[in-house]
Amino acid sequence: MLLQIPNVLAAAQVAALRVRLETADAPWVDGRATAGHTGAPVKFNQQIDERAAMARELGDVVLAALERNPLFISAALPQRVYPPLFNRYGAGMQFGAHVDGAVRLLPGSSDKLRTDLSATLFLADPGEYDGGELQVEDAYGLQRVKLAAGDMLLYPASSLHRVTEVTRGTRLACFFWVQSMVRDDTRRALLFDLDRAIQRLLSTAADQAACISLTGVYHNLLRQWAEP
Ligand code: NI
Repeated sequence: MLLQIPNVLAAAQVAALRVRLETADAPWVDGRATAGHTGAPVKFNQQIDERAAMARELGDVVLAALERNPLFISAALPQRVYPPLFNRYGAGMQFGAHVDGAVRLLPGSSDKLRTDLSATLFLADPGEYDGGELQVEDAYGLQRVKLAAGDMLLYPASSLHRVTEVTRGTRLACFFWVQSMVRDDTRRALLFDLDRAIQRLLSTAADQAACISLTGVYHNLLRQWAEP
């Protein structure tokens, strides 16, 4: 499932992050620092050094926003979220077709995170750059995505994806992975659809007993499928 989540960050939050990311001493490094065997040969971009204090500080702003976002919680059912990273593509940069590594070591620990979902939170508006399209292959074909600053795309980490070459301007984004309580994409999508339908019913004068029953079905399915 590909899902666009609007307004994860408000315009003022995007602007505040960009002030920090665009300062002259921001610790940008070669993006291959975090790339695996398949990603490294095709990855040409820059990232904020994930060991830098700035990465953790700015990442915390994003994590706080995610915790307050019901659409993200409902769609991802997050078990744990990788500390958000920040990247930029200037003119001539791109990231060729790849699948994200299945398991990542959490920075500064021996804990591992299984990457069920990938997320890209756009920090530049589409009008600021040409190219730089996020292309994701899913069951319905090739999806081409360029969202407004503050909006986020959530997609299966198992999907083949790429970022096309930027030909003008700079594409700034935040990206991270999510280990979900429900690892199977189909089950997670069913729970998401059920939850959205229940939320819609609850906002109407629908039969209360039926709403309670459906809510019970949701939680009992989650109980069956959630991993500790
Ligand atoms: Ni990727």
